[in-house]
Amino acid sequence: MAGEFLKNSLAGNFSIHHKGDVDLVTDADRAAQDLIRKEVLLKYPEHGILGEEDLTIKGASDYLWIVDPLDGTTNYAHRFPVFSVSIAVVRKKHILCGVVYNPVSEELFKAVSGEGASLNAMPINVSETGSLNESLLGTGFPYNIRETSLNNLDHFNNFALKAQGIRRCGSAALDLCFVACGRLDGFWELDLKQWDIAAGALIVREAGGSTTDFEGKELGLDGSTVLASNGRIHDEMMEVLNRRIQSPKSRV
Ligand code: IPD
Ligand code: CA
Ligand code: CA
Repeated sequence: MAGEFLKNSLAGNFSIHHKGDVDLVTDADRAAQDLIRKEVLLKYPEHGILGEEDLTIKGASDYLWIVDPLDGTTNYAHRFPVFSVSIAVVRKKHILCGVVYNPVSEELFKAVSGEGASLNAMPINVSETGSLNESLLGTGFPYNIRETSLNNLDHFNNFALKAQGIRRCGSAALDLCFVACGRLDGFWELDLKQWDIAAGALIVREAGGSTTDFEGKELGLDGSTVLASNGRIHDEMMEVLNRRIQSPKSRV
């Protein structure tokens, strides 16, 4: 429903507002969140909701819906057609299920804890790529890239010299799903929020992949640093993430 709305509104008129220098929000983000909020509360009036666009509803029950109504706002604002809706249901910090929908490709990624992951109802698995050298990776950059040196540029340089390729798709939730279905072999990013990763991280794990922080510790709901992979290249990726920036010369 929210996905269809976003797809249909992409060619129309919407206003773009600035949360920060490069951090945008559009009318479409807010309208999509509104649709999801209404739908959830209609069916589960006692559930809580945490949504990116200033939405916190404390429910009477333990169930919490974590919602990114539009993951990929910068793409959307430029009418670059790569974005998703990401929704997870959590109970006592345990992610029960997650869905990520790409309305443009009409791809619905889904996982239920302990029951596997699927893409449009077909089971999916992570890739079997065994080395970084043969891997296609995904990443993204934080909105405060201009204000901090923890802006991922060092890791990006290091991986660019080690991996087969790197893609920056602009939707962390889709990046995670692409790891889950084997289109990407690994993904890393700093400073992600619960709504960016809750659904996608479960989808990766249920597809047989690994999700940790950069030190290899279990990924909490407040992701901050996120490393997701097919498992086989996880240690190699961690090694790169824990290395200082290197120039091509110093690597010889
Ligand atoms: C952003 C996207 C992007 C990632 C940013 C996120 P938003 O979410 O997931 O790929 O690099 O860190 O904040 O703002 O489009 O919902
Ligand atoms: Ca997001
Ligand atoms: Ca968002």
